Amino acid sequence: MARESWTGRIGFVLAAVGSAVGLGNLWRFPWMTAENGGSAFLVVYLGIVLAVGVPGLLAEFVLGRRSRKSPVGALRELSGSRNWGHVGLLSVVAGVVLLSFYSVVGGWILRYLVASPTGAYFDAPGAYFDSIAYGPEAAAFHVAFLAATAGVVYGGVRDGIERATTVMMPVIAIVLVGMAAWASGLAGAGDAYAFYLAFDLATIQENAVDVALAAAGQALFTLSVGAGTMITYASYVGEDRSLPADATMVAVLNTGLGVLAGLVVFPLLFSTPGVDVATSGPGALFVGVATAFATLPYGTLLAVGFFAVVALAALSSSISMLEIVVAYLVDERDLDRKRATTGVAAVVLVTGAASAFSPSLFSALAGPVVDVVLTTGLLAFVVFAAWVVGADAVEEFATGTRYTTGLGDAWRVLIGVALPPFLLFTLGVGLLDAAGVDAPTWQVAVAAVVVAAALVAGVARRRPSGPAEH
Ligand code: PFF
Repeated sequence: MARESWTGRIGFVLAAVGSAVGLGNLWRFPWMTAENGGSAFLVVYLGIVLAVGVPGLLAEFVLGRRSRKSPVGALRELSGSRNWGHVGLLSVVAGVVLLSFYSVVGGWILRYLVASPTGAYFDAPGAYFDSIAYGPEAAAFHVAFLAATAGVVYGGVRDGIERATTVMMPVIAIVLVGMAAWASGLAGAGDAYAFYLAFDLATIQENAVDVALAAAGQALFTLSVGAGTMITYASYVGEDRSLPADATMVAVLNTGLGVLAGLVVFPLLFSTPGVDVATSGPGALFVGVATAFATLPYGTLLAVGFFAVVALAALSSSISMLEIVVAYLVDERDLDRKRATTGVAAVVLVTGAASAFSPSLFSALAGPVVDVVLTTGLLAFVVFAAWVVGADAVEEFATGTRYTTGLGDAWRVLIGVALPPFLLFTLGVGLLDAAGVDAPTWQVAVAAVVVAAALVAGVARRRPSGPAEH
């Protein structure tokens, strides 16, 4: 059967933007920002999006289109080695890990959407969130959200994913612009902008490593890199497209919509006395925003609009997570799409229900676990693109573009030399943190450089006979 493809550029870019824009921007970002020094975090985060996220995104695009395969097949075919194919299985794990908590949050959103018309959470927002967050009800709404996700993926690349995202993305953008304009008139808007946008270098200096770590995790998460989603989506793209142009477009739109989301969420959080913006943890958005809706005029209506948009943004991302695993089964296991979708949904139904019942499992998956999975995945992809695919990756970079291969060579140096030690450093600090080991930062940095050099040397030397240099 011929491989599925997008109808054209808009379909691909909007699907990729749909994957990127999601709960990362609307739910995880405010929570992370509040916990990591507000605007200081934003500055570091934007820097990492530019220096790490975009080149990484481009690496995934290059691997996907060059191979026309999802991650397992892409790594195996481009290297000619089955072992690299096994490395690609990381993406299958990433898809399941991501969906297992994301679908629970998607369920919370649906729960709030259904409860908004009657204002069920208006009286006691905090207690309401605690009562629905974990348990049978959370599991039931997780199943509903997962069913919607599976419904789209079931329809296929064009008739499912592309059709859904090309409608959803403009709707999300229009509603967010309208809400940001409206939110600018709220009483707390000034304080909110100050919290959100003022540069605060002191906090970065005090907590450089923690801020960088959280920012790196969030930067990868928001751009959907490291999980193989973007490899998979790019495997449905034609030769006539400029991948650097599309990667830039995706990053610009994601960052724009992300900043816009902040311009809606923060004024809402600051608009009501008594909301503690620094309330830590995953419930921050729900409790804070719900309190705001409870007190604002037309709160019910606003709440319905807000949660409807968040639900759409969440859905356009969750379908990209499911698609990683479905594409693997279709490409590598010869399953037809419909059966693959149903099968994966059945698995995530169980794993997601587990995190819907267990706050500690949920928090682990949504925080450190997903950061480690995405960082490891991206490390594998950039080392692979730069040192195994090598010059062919640069050629693919330049295919369909006006860019010179000189720019492609610079990109290859960036992803092949600068990113591995950086990613290993964040990985090292994150893992030591999780293990409760207190190692001096400089030691982790030195170790990261040494391991990166050894890794690159090992990969480059063992380069299979597959793709040739110029
Ligand atoms: N980028 C999505 C968000 O910001 O909500 C989350 C995400 C989607 C991460 C797909 C990773 C992924 F592969």
